[in-house]
Amino acid sequence: MARRKLIAGNWKMNGNRAALVELDSIAAAALAAPGIDVAIAVPATLIAPAASKVPDLSIGAEDVHQDDSGAHTGCISAGMVKEAGARFSIVGHSERRADQHETDADVKGKAEAALRNHIAAILCVGETLAQRDAGEAESVVTAQIAGSLPDGAAAGWLSIAYEPVWAIGTGRTATCEDVAAMHNAIRAKLREMIGTEADAMRILYGGSVTPDNAAMLLATKDVDGALVGGASLTAAKFVPIIEAARDQP
Ligand code: PGA
Repeated sequence: MARRKLIAGNWKMNGNRAALVELDSIAAAALAAPGIDVAIAVPATLIAPAASKVPDLSIGAEDVHQDDSGAHTGCISAGMVKEAGARFSIVGHSERRADQHETDADVKGKAEAALRNHIAAILCVGETLAQRDAGEAESVVTAQIAGSLPDGAAAGWLSIAYEPVWAIGTGRTATCEDVAAMHNAIRAKLREMIGTEADAMRILYGGSVTPDNAAMLLATKDVDGALVGGASLTAAKFVPIIEAARDQP
């Protein structure tokens, strides 16, 4: 089954209004690549200015709360980011699973909040180096899928991102063989849970994706796009990744 590639950026806790100038060339590159999807998740404070600066580019949030409102000081709901102009949110990024102690159940709730509020979601999973070294990578990741896949999971609004924790921001990427094996295991788990819908669901790879390795990773079997951190902060690095996806056969 042919799946449209998705190249998504994740600015994390980086950027300010001045940095939004980068979005002009990124939006232009997206426009010149009509066969793929391009999206960028920015800090909550930048969602509204980013969405109004580049209305054709899909701007998203990096996290949403599982509830729609309530006594949760400092948190932001899916309805709020949607109103600010977000079309999607990342949920369950490993930095939040680690720093904010988010559990699979929390992540499931966040994805369901996205669905309820009519925004898309990119659900992140990935193992630590210790888990990989112990031979537990596949069991850890498939357990994360089992625990955090939302009710109502469907390819039209949900993508999965496989991001080995040891490859994030380290300059180390998984080998294409390891990525292909994990994406295959994730798709098998999805098939078990949602049947043939799994064949349409995009599975992105994330972790030190750069202009140098993007084409190779994107050509790997079952890799339907990339979630890009550091290299999404500048158009100079992100545009070549968009072009690598655009130019895939
Ligand atoms: P990185 O981050 O590309 O800087 O490794 C990826 C991510 O955490 O989404």
